Amino acid sequence: MPSEKILVVEDDPKMLKAITTLLQKQGYEVTSSVDGESALIQAEQGEFDLAIVDLKLPGIDGLEVLKHLRKMDKTVSVIMMTAYATIDSAVEAMKEGAQDYLPKPFNLEEIRIVVRKVLERHELLLKNKYLQGQLKGRYKFGNIIGESTKIKEVLEIIGKVAASKSTILVYGETGTGKELVARAIHFNSSRADNVFLPVNCGALSENLLESELFGHVKGAFTGAVSNKRGVFEVADKGTIFLDEVGDISQGLQQKLLRVLEEGEVQPVGSTNRKKVDVRVIAATNKNLEEMVKNGSFREDLFFRLSVVPIEIPPLREHKEDIILLAQHFLGIFCKENHKPIQSISNEAMEILTGYDWPGNVRELSNVIERAVLLEESETLEQECLPDRLKISESAEAQIEVEDLQTLEDVSRNYIKQVLEATDGNKSKAAKILGINRTSLWRMMRRLKLDTD
Ligand SMILES: Nc1ncnc2c1ncn2[C@@H]1O[C@H](COP(=O)(O)OP(=O)(O)OP(=O)(O)O)[C@@H](O)[C@H]1O
Ligand SMILES: [Mg+2]
Repeated sequence: MPSEKILVVEDDPKMLKAITTLLQKQGYEVTSSVDGESALIQAEQGEFDLAIVDLKLPGIDGLEVLKHLRKMDKTVSVIMMTAYATIDSAVEAMKEGAQDYLPKPFNLEEIRIVVRKVLERHELLLKNKYLQGQLKGRYKFGNIIGESTKIKEVLEIIGKVAASKSTILVYGETGTGKELVARAIHFNSSRADNVFLPVNCGALSENLLESELFGHVKGAFTGAVSNKRGVFEVADKGTIFLDEVGDISQGLQQKLLRVLEEGEVQPVGSTNRKKVDVRVIAATNKNLEEMVKNGSFREDLFFRLSVVPIEIPPLREHKEDIILLAQHFLGIFCKENHKPIQSISNEAMEILTGYDWPGNVRELSNVIERAVLLEESETLEQECLPDRLKISESAEAQIEVEDLQTLEDVSRNYIKQVLEATDGNKSKAAKILGINRTSLWRMMRRLKLDTD
């Protein structure tokens, strides 16, 4: 984090000065207040990582200040100071969300240690919710399965660009592994110990997306009841994955470009700009170049994002990886479901490799998961595969050849069908067929249909 922001609220001016000076020397950005009212005004205007609040204050007391602060910004950490270190007041403060308390008198060394401890936990807490689930997703290249030339090419580019800070644009159809690649880049970069934050740009309205990305201050719009940090701030020193970047509105495209160029964000409703150090990996299954041509995507943003473009091929273009992938997923889902399936039968493998996989690797993964659940034996048999995989193109063609009808048969059957639907009303039927009554009658005779 850049320098953490601390708000100190203490009515004893000497004490306030001492604490402020100490913390400033430590490199923190400190704001000081002598009473609760002014502290809350400060808190409304800026965002703080930590507030150190004296319990006994003139006017609004420390406990009230604590409650208000936490209401405004749920992520703010609070340390209470009190000369009346009764267990009760400490317990109540903790209940209201204070992280720690300092019984007076304390020396400055004590405050330094407590502040550091609380701030460390603060940063952890802040990132924790985003880090959750990331352990599972700690992708090394090893998680990207494939030995085809196309996948090797992708791996080679990842290896080259991971260490840099360059912006990357990942192209690929749905389910090809765009997010997997983005994670691999992040976890193989020097940012690996910081967060990887995915944002689905297609899932949020323009306004929500703006506040999700850049944050907002309390009161910026209806419903903005407290300050909120945007992902650009939370992901400081980490990586943001902008999924479906082609869905970003024109207005936001411009704002995003500015952030990428200047390395600063401006939360919605705020006049302050904050420095951020974030790597952006964007992904899309749309043709952005086409969108640039027809004016729906800004050219300058496109160039800014696609410093390094990576194109992930659809699975049908690297079918030689299907066997490896299928076995990889078999291992995963057997373990997950405690199934003893050892292998995939030849027939099943033939079906898997013959299919075109419009849903790409994700579809393959889903198919194997389902089959693992259904299979009772130690070999995964073709019976457990969905039928749609089994109707190959040649099979379809064969059915057609066998069932081919003459034009006459088709006409006869169709006219019959229309007549049935119109209860034998020839005028109505002729109208539907787009011919006049006489022609219909003639056709019926020729096709040997009962004209009565
Ligand atoms: N080469 C691969 N090796 C192993 N697993 C893969 C590979 N490619 C994709 N997967 C797996 O397939 C699933 C889909 O991948 P991912 O979510 O990265 O796709 P995506 O391109 O982001 O899809 P969408 O466009 O639908 O968001 C994930 O479970 C991922 O782990
Ligand atoms: Mg995705």
